[in-house]
Amino acid sequence: MTLTRSELEAHWMPFTGNRQFKQQPRLMERADGAYYYDTEGRQIFDGLSGLWTCGAGHNRPEIVEAVSRQVATLDYSPGFQFGHAQSFLLANKLVDLTPDGLDHVFFTDSGSETVETALKIARAYWRTRGMPGKTRFIGRQKGYHGVNYGGIGVGGIGFNRKLFGQSIEADHIAHTVLEENRYSRGMPELGAHLADEVEDLVALHDASNIAAVIVEPLSGTAGVLPPPQGYLNRLREICDRHQILLIFDEVITGLGRMGSLTGAEEFGVTPDLLGLAKQITNGAIPLGAVMVRGEIYQSFMDNGGPDYMVEFPHGYTYSAHPVACAAGLAALDVLVNDELVARVRKLAPVLEDAVHGLRGHPLVADIRNYGLAAGLSIVHKAGEPMKRPFELGLRCLSKGFYVRWGGDTVQLAPPFIASEQQVRDLVAALGESLDEID
Ligand SMILES: Cc1ncc(COP(=O)(O)O)c(C=O)c1O
Repeated sequence: MTLTRSELEAHWMPFTGNRQFKQQPRLMERADGAYYYDTEGRQIFDGLSGLWTCGAGHNRPEIVEAVSRQVATLDYSPGFQFGHAQSFLLANKLVDLTPDGLDHVFFTDSGSETVETALKIARAYWRTRGMPGKTRFIGRQKGYHGVNYGGIGVGGIGFNRKLFGQSIEADHIAHTVLEENRYSRGMPELGAHLADEVEDLVALHDASNIAAVIVEPLSGTAGVLPPPQGYLNRLREICDRHQILLIFDEVITGLGRMGSLTGAEEFGVTPDLLGLAKQITNGAIPLGAVMVRGEIYQSFMDNGGPDYMVEFPHGYTYSAHPVACAAGLAALDVLVNDELVARVRKLAPVLEDAVHGLRGHPLVADIRNYGLAAGLSIVHKAGEPMKRPFELGLRCLSKGFYVRWGGDTVQLAPPFIASEQQVRDLVAALGESLDEID
């Protein structure tokens, strides 16, 4: 179905150049496996797995069937004071799949709500422990934690913050992109010392005022920034030393993309709270989850007053939506049964070799990768740092490949089910596109 210019007007699209899009719309019609099909009849390889969501490929019959069955059986159930079996089964499954110690799950509907929920749990936890002064957060430059006020407060992408002002009390440690690490394959060698900036902020504010540090183990949105070797361990040590909670925002890294079930597992560091979304339902239905250490959950239970009282006054109408939970159960089954995490490990070196083959191109300033994710920094056009990535995105599309452009970067995250040749073809299309722009 094609739409007229006036039919395109009413929808104010998210994170989109609306004026450009409405002149030159890009409308997907259907999807199957690793491909989209647009309204022009083009087959488009999904080089970002949707928005880092659909690693298992599109329209998986197991997920379609589970969702259809659930929506016809129990389409909605009140999430407050009532439950349904799917959410408990899904919580148990998530506990099984994530590192030991993260044994309770609070469901949300998106990555942004996951972050907001994690921040609220962190502050409230310290209150339950009799330390109400611990309210400040520490995020990181270039960090992306969704778009709600807490998330942009701890987030570190200036473009996403500048229209909205500061929202919560948050400081930012340095990002980990170092000149010396350009073109690193996997985790860069240098940069663990950057975690020590948390110590400086402790000296400034005192740990008695700091609730948590929040980072993505690997920053995706900023252009795929893998953590320097030893960096996350150092953050963990500092947080432990000062009684500060460590939150991993694993909305992108969670559930396969890194070549392990979580970034925490892959990088060998367990946070106190771990946020998930996106891949949790393979993108089919919105769902997010905050995993917390048992002691955090218990502190709310122990300090919640009489047992009919709500211990944590927080939740969304659609928290643990039965259809989303059914999608989640099916998606996690697919992830495990099809051994997709092993598949990511197998494909990761193919992506790494292919993408680093673009090194030396005059428009490429840096290349980074980990697992089935890669990011390229593109040399800025004078005064317009975001122009070339946009042009590259359109060029790739004209060749039948979808890649994500954001800031001065291009990001690749092919589906876990992709073939080695499809991964190479994706990078080749990007290489040709680089040759075609000025
Ligand atoms: C690390 C991280 N946190 C949070 C979010 C926000 O997720 P959502 O767009 O589902 O709100 C994203 C989205 O890309 C993300 O990458």
